[in-house]
Amino acid sequence: MTSPLPFTPDLSVKPEITAFFDEATNTVTYVVKDPNSKACAVVDSVMDIDYAAGRITYDHADQIIDFIRKNDLALEWIIETHVHADHLSAAPYIQEKLGGKLGIGDRITIVQDTFGKVFNEGTEFQRDGSQFDRLFKDGDSYTIGSMTAYAMHTPGHTPACMTHVIGDAAFVGDTLFMPDGGSARADFPGGDARELYRSIKRVLALPDETRLFICHDYGPNGRDIKWETTVAEERQHNIHVRDGITEDEFVAMREARDATLDMPKLIIPSLQVNMRAGHLPPEEEDGKTYLKVPVNGL
Ligand SMILES: [Fe+2]
Repeated sequence: MTSPLPFTPDLSVKPEITAFFDEATNTVTYVVKDPNSKACAVVDSVMDIDYAAGRITYDHADQIIDFIRKNDLALEWIIETHVHADHLSAAPYIQEKLGGKLGIGDRITIVQDTFGKVFNEGTEFQRDGSQFDRLFKDGDSYTIGSMTAYAMHTPGHTPACMTHVIGDAAFVGDTLFMPDGGSARADFPGGDARELYRSIKRVLALPDETRLFICHDYGPNGRDIKWETTVAEERQHNIHVRDGITEDEFVAMREARDATLDMPKLIIPSLQVNMRAGHLPPEEEDGKTYLKVPVNGL
């Protein structure tokens, strides 16, 4: 069988990974460091929002910035695995403080087109991904110090989802959760349960010992929060997609389950900010910035 992977994984490369869990949104941000240099990347950062008060702060991002500064690291990349619907990205804030290039999957243009319409954005909102420094295609590579990282297109949760594989580690975004958490929903505009199943199978075609780092954990059944697993563990134990569960079984389960889920609490501010690469909408004539709520528009 030909490999479904668009690159050859190199398990001898073992990035040093530090996780920062955000309790407000159950998101995990990662600092990924090259063991042979001071180079690092940040994956899926979080900007804090008190939505009820319309107040934005940067406590979580500041922890990451402090960590990078204290360890004298050089930030080369700020990666978004996808346009998140449950938290706001702090990528531009981190980039302003530490530099680095901001990257996301090239299908961001589809997401920008969809949500540009939902939020009735004018022509000043560019839908060409130009808010980012790099738009990754399936199989694209980039470097973090001496390490080569690969972007693998894993759509289904959203059209632009990418899994980033760096040596023996893969950052799967919301493609997979921990084995007892299963998989992410596939019912946002542009989502597709069948595509998600195929993307997950692609991730699970990585070598068994590949470390998988997930973007969210909710501590199912009261267990402690976890964010690291392996391909082998997912293939044996994932409640939605372990070996033996067929595509049709998965799709039926996923679609039935998605029909019962409420929208994420922060979807409205998250999409408006994240489709702009983490920037707030432009100021209005009064010098203030506003987020819209489309009534019955989602
Ligand atoms: Fe997500």
